[in-house]
Amino acid sequence: MSNTTSAPRKILVTSALPYANGSIHLGHLLEYIQTDIWVRFQKSRGHECHYVCADDAHGTAIMLRAEQEGISSEALIERVSREHQQDFARFGVAFDNYHSTHSDENRYLSELIYTRLRDKGHIATRDIEQMYDPVKGLFLADRFIKGTCPKCGAEDQYGDNCEVCSATYTPADLIDPVSAISGATPEVRSSTHYFFKLPDFADFLKSWIGRDHVQPQIRNKLMEWFEAGLNEWDISRDAPYFGFEIPDAPGKYFYVWLDAPIGYLASFKNLCERTGIDFDAYWSLDSDAEVYHFIGKDIVYFHALFWPAMLHGAAFRTPTAVNCHGFVTVNGAKMSKSRGTFIKAATYAEHLNPEYLRYYFAAKLTSRVDDLDLNLDDFAARVNADLVGKVVNIASRCAGFVKKLGDGRLSSHCAEPELIARFIAAGDGIAADFDAREFGRAIRQVMELADEANTYIAEKEPWVLAKQAGREQEVLDICSVGINLFRQLMVYLAPVVPAMAEEARRFLALDTLDWHSRHEVLLGHVIAKFKPLMTRVDRDRIDAMVEASKEDIVEEQKLKDAPKGPLTDAPIADEITFDDFAKVDLRIARIAKADYVEGADKLLQLTLDLGGETRTVFAGIRAAYAPEALEGRLTVMVANLAPRKMRFGVSEGMVLAAGNAENIYLLSPDSGAEPGQRLT
Ligand code: MSP
Ligand code: ZN
Repeated sequence: MSNTTSAPRKILVTSALPYANGSIHLGHLLEYIQTDIWVRFQKSRGHECHYVCADDAHGTAIMLRAEQEGISSEALIERVSREHQQDFARFGVAFDNYHSTHSDENRYLSELIYTRLRDKGHIATRDIEQMYDPVKGLFLADRFIKGTCPKCGAEDQYGDNCEVCSATYTPADLIDPVSAISGATPEVRSSTHYFFKLPDFADFLKSWIGRDHVQPQIRNKLMEWFEAGLNEWDISRDAPYFGFEIPDAPGKYFYVWLDAPIGYLASFKNLCERTGIDFDAYWSLDSDAEVYHFIGKDIVYFHALFWPAMLHGAAFRTPTAVNCHGFVTVNGAKMSKSRGTFIKAATYAEHLNPEYLRYYFAAKLTSRVDDLDLNLDDFAARVNADLVGKVVNIASRCAGFVKKLGDGRLSSHCAEPELIARFIAAGDGIAADFDAREFGRAIRQVMELADEANTYIAEKEPWVLAKQAGREQEVLDICSVGINLFRQLMVYLAPVVPAMAEEARRFLALDTLDWHSRHEVLLGHVIAKFKPLMTRVDRDRIDAMVEASKEDIVEEQKLKDAPKGPLTDAPIADEITFDDFAKVDLRIARIAKADYVEGADKLLQLTLDLGGETRTVFAGIRAAYAPEALEGRLTVMVANLAPRKMRFGVSEGMVLAAGNAENIYLLSPDSGAEPGQRLT
């Protein structure tokens, strides 16, 4: 019987831990939405399912970013964690716990796993030579070194590959290498590194991969890596580093990717300790629970090789499966800042209903690793046709008659028992598809049912019957069937559009829309007043969102677009009133500090002293000024300009300069002016 409940499963689910130095964007959201739908579905089925995540808080990039913003790494990860959690909440991504890799639990578990591996002989040490930045005093990862391509001679190329001729090499091959952080010439220095001996686990991994723990496409990729041979994995970084120090190895830190996946365990442990769940029941070798990691295709190596090997070596159980998804493209191309298709979660949510996106992703998701295109025209058309045109339509056509003819009470007898039984029975197939992460197939079935429901109502024409005397009961019967069919659809869609489902649940006056609740047909049941459950996607809002996504980079773009010639020909701008002008607060500022900005060849980062208050401003004046030449001098700044988030940090104002991209003349006051004085 379809009504029988199988024994509840114990399931632990994770999504990859987002880096704590960037905002959540629509690409990330594919993963969190996919995972969240799957988790909500499992919970709806009555299984014990826990969904944990955390911020990935360690590493050089985060350390440098904090330094640039002039705050501690701890303050940075604290702020970003709050932003991330806000973004996730707006998209209905409902973690049972959101933690941080910079946590006590993670330190404890990282040390535990490391020492177990070490004590079993799976850790090696040896000296390696690496580029070192003598000015900054740190070892440089390949992407922090720039220089001239040894193959084609292109300048300003990164330390591992040339963007011009696509050659790959090591930083030592670069001609005239410089540190991208300080501009200094790097030195080669030797230091001791710690390695995880991955080849010790070759046999284990080969059989693990063969046993359905990964998708077929991924298995093939892993097999290629196997053929190429497994290497020992460098898991240590030298101080200064934002992370955990390795036990008994002063000055050596765990590489961020060592403690990142352990963050899954740490977040779960934190949840267990808060709520009394038995951690060992999920992670001990004899655990009968299921553990699933949802990840993107770019981080397979870490999750399908290093991670199972680490767990196995440290006597923890390994994951039931690593579920890998492809990448989001927008309008058929990689997300692009200049096209405005690099869309942040927060920007999307300011313009459009997050549930549209959840629905669209669900409608296109499969269990495979293929990329998923968010075509903005198709997105609008699909959501409008399906959710608004088909699903909401059923309720809105029937609700009025139930209110009017039954005073809100559904008919006490069922006019179409077979039709409703078919909708209920379809739930088993739909459930199988959700369980197998074939969301697109599940959605197609739900929309076929929605079509059937609409056809039923269209053929019965209750609005025609309603005009004929004495047929009130018939109309109420038809519309009660309609409401029952709508209820079935909302049970199936609830994991995908939880906020809309919550509205529907209130309208239906039900305690729950859980999967099994659908078996009880609603007879003589009183429903609530109907409110529109979802509005149509507005094309203008999509355009506005794309425009707003371009805005994030206007500052950088302005520099690139700056005219090459003199600006004296530029026409005088439109007249403004004195009041307009008086709004601009111009102040004398002392340039306390000037620095190069990693990765920005036109910008300098200025620390401005306003006579007590200091401001960080990114100014496009690098072509004309060396940082040393600026330190100490006075200039003029706009002090009340809204802070602007740039790729490199927040710019809190603007300095005044004349000229164009090549010839730049920074303004200076006459001698005697004091930092902080207002210009009038
Ligand atoms: N911090 C690591 C993960 C550590 S897990 C122990 C990381 N972080 S990330 O912020 O770069 O990415 C988080 C997840 O989002 C990854 O699974 C990644 O594949 C996914 N995506 C990031 N950009 C994406 C798209 N454009 N499209 C789909 N998924 C994308 O990697
Ligand atoms: Zn080249």
